[in-house]
Amino acid sequence: MAQTFEEIAPRELKPALLDLDGISRETIEAHYKLYVGYVNKRNEILGKLADVDLSTANQVYSDLRSLKVDLTFAIGGIKNHEIYFEHLGGPGGDPAGVFGDLVKRDFGSTAAWKADLKATGIGGRGWAWTAYDWDEGRLFNYIGDAQNTFPVWNATPLVALDVYEHAYFIDFATDRGGYIDKFFDNLDYDVVNDWVQRYSIRA
Ligand SMILES: [Fe+2]
Repeated sequence: MAQTFEEIAPRELKPALLDLDGISRETIEAHYKLYVGYVNKRNEILGKLADVDLSTANQVYSDLRSLKVDLTFAIGGIKNHEIYFEHLGGPGGDPAGVFGDLVKRDFGSTAAWKADLKATGIGGRGWAWTAYDWDEGRLFNYIGDAQNTFPVWNATPLVALDVYEHAYFIDFATDRGGYIDKFFDNLDYDVVNDWVQRYSIRA
């Protein structure tokens, strides 16, 4: 056996997610199913990896490569969506608390942070994240094309903006910018500040 593992279950969707401002229940329910799919895929891949016999021929290594790449996609899909769903359902507005202090310190203003994250989200194919980079000691808005590209080591994502079409196309068609504005309007900064406190991030 290559590696032992435990199956995980999807997190439940918060009821508030079904009543967002401008992002429909239809979108959220379809989106949640995609997240559940990532959880199932993660369990399936880890099951296959546990059965790989490392002592056999070279073919095993190409199988292993494929499984390990797919694993980064599945686990990225879980982590990204757990942040996304967890920090929506709030009143939006300006971030307060330590996160608000970090935003002002590292971007100059809330408006500048939002403008940069929005532009990053328009430039990305799948994600834009506001992450606290422990080596840089500050927030950055990092860009992502897929679930597994391009997370940065030793940075903790605090805001995860999903810009895949599945996140907005039903409600906004091609207006990704309009969707991003509504994303900000639904953010729950208390949740973000809870993470800031949990990770002991200080302004
Ligand atoms: Fe998504």
